[in-house]
Amino acid sequence: MSQSTPRYGKVYLVGAGPGAADLITVRGARILAQADVVLHDALVTEDLLALAPQAEKISVGKRSGQRSTAQLAINQLLVDCAAHHRTVVRLKGGDPMLFGRADEELQTLEAHGIAVEIVPGITTAFAAAAATQQPLTKRGVARSVAFFTSATAPQHADELAMPDSDTLIQYMGGREAIATAKKLIAQGRSLELPVVIVENCSLPDQTVTRMRLRDLEHGLGERQGPVLVMIGDAMAARDTTDKKED
Ligand SMILES: C[S@@+](CC[C@H](N)C(=O)[O-])C[C@H]1O[C@@H](n2cnc3c(N)ncnc32)[C@H](O)[C@@H]1O
Repeated sequence: MSQSTPRYGKVYLVGAGPGAADLITVRGARILAQADVVLHDALVTEDLLALAPQAEKISVGKRSGQRSTAQLAINQLLVDCAAHHRTVVRLKGGDPMLFGRADEELQTLEAHGIAVEIVPGITTAFAAAAATQQPLTKRGVARSVAFFTSATAPQHADELAMPDSDTLIQYMGGREAIATAKKLIAQGRSLELPVVIVENCSLPDQTVTRMRLRDLEHGLGERQGPVLVMIGDAMAARDTTDKKED
């Protein structure tokens, strides 16, 4: 008797957005409502998981300092879930294609011939720009933006240079604040460069902290929630005194 190849279901990599349940896309919510199983990150909230009441939920969350499911195990779990279920959702914070280890998951799924669809999400940078009402680009001030992180594979840690874009958005940067500030200052950036820190963006306990690059050099202190660091002249607080539009 010949061994039959497994018939796999379909895997959806869905962007959950920054946290608030109504910042997921309509498509993402529709697929969640059809899911048999949802594998989700630690930053995905209960309100979002409530969009899939029928589904089995598996937390594969990775938060710094906490126990996490290693990426290889997540890849294998996705394959196992696809072998047993028709609709598998891998729900990732923000957008799945930005700092989300999507490449490893896609490679594994493709290697097994498993159908994949990606549903974009609102990345934290855009949600933080909206929450703080600070556009990331600004005419005459900032015409380039870099999304970057210092969290990387250990063998690449020494090679990291700061991007030279006008606006810099650092993901996973809470603990890296001092190192980031030192590197930017060494690069010749102004000590007065505005910095905006958004913690728990889009959630009820969201906080916004404004400082200068010279303050960032002293670090951000202990933070419980996820933190996005936004740096650049476009982050300067707007002059709120009445001005005539030109
Ligand atoms: C592994 S990355 C995932 C990024 C995600 N794919 C995105 O597009 O936003 C996790 C980092 O995103 C940022 N982040 C995610 N959710 C956040 C939130 N609600 N508030 C502030 N930062 C957040 C933090 O810098 C956190 O360390």
